[in-house]
Amino acid sequence: MEVIPSGGAHGAEIMGVDLSQPLDDNTFESILNAFHTHSVIVFRNQDITEEDHIRFSGRIGEIDNDVYSHFAHPNHGEIVIISNILDEDGKPIGVSDAGKFWHTDLAYTKTPSRASLLYSFEVPITDDGTVLGDTLFSNTAAAYDELPDDIKSRIDGKSIINRHAYAYFKSGQGEQFKKSAAALNDVEHPLVIQHPFTGRKILFCNEAMTVGINDLPTEESEQLLSFLVEWVKKPDFVYRHKWQTGDFLMWDNFPTQHFVEHNFDLPLRRRMQRITVRGTVPVSA
Ligand code: SIN
Repeated sequence: MEVIPSGGAHGAEIMGVDLSQPLDDNTFESILNAFHTHSVIVFRNQDITEEDHIRFSGRIGEIDNDVYSHFAHPNHGEIVIISNILDEDGKPIGVSDAGKFWHTDLAYTKTPSRASLLYSFEVPITDDGTVLGDTLFSNTAAAYDELPDDIKSRIDGKSIINRHAYAYFKSGQGEQFKKSAAALNDVEHPLVIQHPFTGRKILFCNEAMTVGINDLPTEESEQLLSFLVEWVKKPDFVYRHKWQTGDFLMWDNFPTQHFVEHNFDLPLRRRMQRITVRGTVPVSA
């Protein structure tokens, strides 16, 4: 097994691992170490079944039953389909709007995901060979480290309120999330959290879910929040993943946020399946 860093803000490719085969303990430990070091890991050219996806994910921790139950895989409730494809009745076969706003998976719950594991079947490619639908990942530990000192002191000890699909509803695109939003209450999280394995400090607000910063006047909360959610998008902090069919991507949700470039449409098809592994309650740094 070889780990090749992306050379950017974070991210690495692991070569020499076939995820369709059971992995020995040493290999699995090496993958976890690389995961904690690089936060976003890609295994290219994988040919795996749903059972392989579930087996590997379940070794990291308890698999979360995602809230998009209406877009669960028909035979495997723990797998969520992410796709822009429509069935013969014209209905979406999966979540088509995933990642339109920067976010951390399941950060609108008490226990945001520890890991997300996304396997690609179909990737939108134009006639001239341009790959569309990139996923961008921000390194939110680096984003915290690089904050100006005065901002660090203003956010120290603060907490935030997160709401499922907040930015989708705010921008009039909430229809797809009506059912899941009705079932979920707002949650409070620290604004700066500590990574449960590496101990690094992480900026934990995001534009998709964070409604406001507690204990600040509304105007100050709005101004500070809009500064912070833009800050994490700085190119210096971002790794851009260009998808290939057969990519298996796993990311650590604590020190990252991600966003999908929705620059593709049918007949260009994008089809992926995702499993999330439950995390722990975020702890203030
Ligand atoms: C997600 O937000 O988990 C989806 C990422 C993607 O579709 O690339």
